This record gives sequence, C-alpha cells and structure tokens, in this order.
Amino acid sequence: MPTNQTVHLGVNIDHVATLRQARRTLYPDPIHAAFIAEQAGADAITVHLREDRRHIQDRDIETLKATIQTRLNLEMAATSDMQTLAIATYPHTCCLVPERRQELTTEGGLDVASLRPYLQDYCTTLKDAGIRVSLFIDPVPEQLETAATIGVPIVELHTGAYAAATSAHLRLENLQRIQQAVAYGLKLGLQVNAGHGLDYHNVTPIAAIAGITELNIGHSIVARAVFTGLERAVREMKELIRRAQID
Ligand code: PXP
Repeated sequence: MPTNQTVHLGVNIDHVATLRQARRTLYPDPIHAAFIAEQAGADAITVHLREDRRHIQDRDIETLKATIQTRLNLEMAATSDMQTLAIATYPHTCCLVPERRQELTTEGGLDVASLRPYLQDYCTTLKDAGIRVSLFIDPVPEQLETAATIGVPIVELHTGAYAAATSAHLRLENLQRIQQAVAYGLKLGLQVNAGHGLDYHNVTPIAAIAGITELNIGHSIVARAVFTGLERAVREMKELIRRAQID
C-alpha cells in the first residue's frame, strides 16, 4: 500500500574502505564514494568506525565531516575512546552498535535493556555535546521501551533476521515484528530507522512501512556497483593498453 512518505536512504560506504584496506592503497577512496552517493541522491552517509579499524579510518571520518553535503551518521561501539572521538568530530548522528572483534558484521542489536545505566550516562554525554544519538536494537518491545526511557531521539531496527530468513513464513514473521516495532517506536515518540542486510530483493516491504524514517544500506549497494561498473572499468584498461601499443 503506498504511504506517500519519503523514506531517506543512508548509504554505508564501509565496503569501499574494506577494498582499499585489503591492499593498503589510497583507492578506492570512501570520500569519493560519499560524493557519488550524494550526487545519486543519498540522504546521509553512514560509516562504522570499528575498534580494529578494519575499514574506515579516523582520517576518513575527519574528511567526510569536512566534505559531505548531507548528514554524517557515525556507527560506533559505546566505548569511551569512541565517545571522545565522536565529540571531537561532531557527526550529525551517532548510532551505537554492539561490536565483537571476530564478527564479520554487526550480528545483533545492542541489548539496551541490560546496558541501561551505562548507556544512560553515555548517551547524555553525547547529547550534551549536541550529537543526536541512535540505538541499533532488535525489533523487540523491551528494547524500544528502554531506548525511550534513556531519552534518545532515534532507534535503528536491526533487519538482519528479516533479511536472512530462509522461508517465506519466517520472512513474514520477521517483517511483522519490524512493522509492530515501528508502530510501537512511533507511539513512544521515537524516530524509527532500520537497516542491515537490506538488498534489491527485500527492501520494498521495509520501505513501505508507514512511519519509518531512514534505511541504512551498504553491502548490497557496493556489491551492485561492482557489476554496474565492471564493464566500463575493463574497457578503460583495455583502451589504455591498446593506446600504449599505438603511441
Ligand atoms: N545499520 C547498521 C547499524 C549497521 O551496523 C550496518 C552494517 O555496518 C548497516 C546498517 C548496513 O548493513 P548492510 O551493509 O548489510 O547494508
């Protein structure tokens, strides 16, 4: 059912940095990726500065902050080092995520219900510094209630279980959980975003949920960019080689 709302897209450019870090080269540059994403209509640029710095680096955050035209959404673990860095860099939004060193990607939502006293102080410090805080949580009522009690303005619902569902039945069950969580979050006065694992096949039912504000998507966009750009990249290299033989 059409909802007549504009759902914003935050483009996560971590995977561009992953490719750069694989060779420790200067390219592909995530700053360049952010520029192209904005030109193509991205409403925000999302980056996850991981504690092990496996993709995005500190200098990327500084340069993005100085160059992007939209909003910088900084995903980070709720550690004191990250808090200091966030206050110094002053992104538009900080999205607090759980982080384990060995994981390939963020595996679950932040368990705000059990971390409440710690997060309360942590979020207040960021808020006092003028940063909007978002909590990345599973679509579970208790987590939403705790987020509202902590007083953050935004939650991002983890759509990973929905995206990874192996049957239509499971997919529907997870979709309904997200739909209910969006409605409940709105009732609690929260801005509700969503993300993780969203791709060209599964995004539509999520983007159609009434009241959802923003989707953060990275892996599928960067993965598709490989194939939308590969043909031209090969042609350009072939042309350089051909010209070298003529000159
Ligand atoms: N939102 C959050 C909080 C994330 O941690 C991630 C992954 O870094 C994303 C969105 C984007 O997920 P994906 O790369 O699967 O689109």
